[in-house]
Amino acid sequence: MTGHSLLAGRVAVVTGGGSGIGLAIAERLGSAGARVVIGDLTEEAAEVAADIDADFVHGDLAEPSACRALIGTTLERHQAVHILVNNAGFQHVAPIHEFPEDTWQRMLAVMLTAPFLLTRFAWPSMVAAQWGRVINISSIHGLVASPHKAGYISAKHGMIGLTRTAALEGGEDGITANAICPAYVRTPLVENQVEDQAAARGISADRVISDVMLEPAAVKRLIEPHEVAAFAEFLCRDEASAITGATLTMDLGWTAR
Ligand SMILES: NC(=O)c1ccc[n+]([C@@H]2O[C@H](COP(=O)([O-])OP(=O)(O)OC[C@H]3O[C@@H](n4cnc5c(N)ncnc54)[C@H](O)[C@@H]3O)[C@@H](O)[C@H]2O)c1
Repeated sequence: MTGHSLLAGRVAVVTGGGSGIGLAIAERLGSAGARVVIGDLTEEAAEVAADIDADFVHGDLAEPSACRALIGTTLERHQAVHILVNNAGFQHVAPIHEFPEDTWQRMLAVMLTAPFLLTRFAWPSMVAAQWGRVINISSIHGLVASPHKAGYISAKHGMIGLTRTAALEGGEDGITANAICPAYVRTPLVENQVEDQAAARGISADRVISDVMLEPAAVKRLIEPHEVAAFAEFLCRDEASAITGATLTMDLGWTAR
């Protein structure tokens, strides 16, 4: 089987596929032969989707109606959803006593409720196919905490509970569910944090990465989006069907400590 036909006939929905990790995954699944549908918020994401020959469904996935529309439109156009990559997310940094309530609500809506709803809406199609892949892009912050990221860390921990439950429920129907938990990946989300921290601390961007962000890690470098994409694509292969309910770290050795 050639690389291009590995996922031939599969329909993949990738949320937040307009940038960073989601874009790399969308490209990779497309290259492996899947029909890819990107759900994202921004105008740029529509252009990016067109560039990589993916379908695009615009919507704010904090809204349950947008989650329903993303799966509904995909089913209308392609009659199936085989692969769901819950990737859309964002970061907000503030101590708990100053954490804005509306930001907390939005973080849970985008990074926990939307993955639940999308899984729920896509599930009957996966059951009908007796084949499905739910890939949740959690984070190393789904497993450990750092200060000042309460909303993000709570949502990412919750996502692991959702993943495990889906894995147990999907086992009889050929559906696997896994969480990928990366440390810092070189994307706009992280590059902005590096710049902010470098300015705040008066040190270079390289030192922010090695001494601050990756202080607990064995390997002191950012992960590249294509590395996460390759991992996600592997999970979509038939030979990955024994991997389910797993929290798969890609953390530069962070949690080995
Ligand atoms: N970059 C990292 O270091 C890192 C590490 C671990 C986990 N993650 C997770 O990976 C995922 C992708 O992160 P990234 O670094 O590629 O970020 P990014 O900012 O480059 O991309 C995120 C994408 O999600 C979209 N998005 C955000 N809110 C949305 C909403 N309400 N509705 C629809 N789309 C929305 C954005 O428009 C954007 O295209 C996130 O869930 C993030 O938490 C990132």
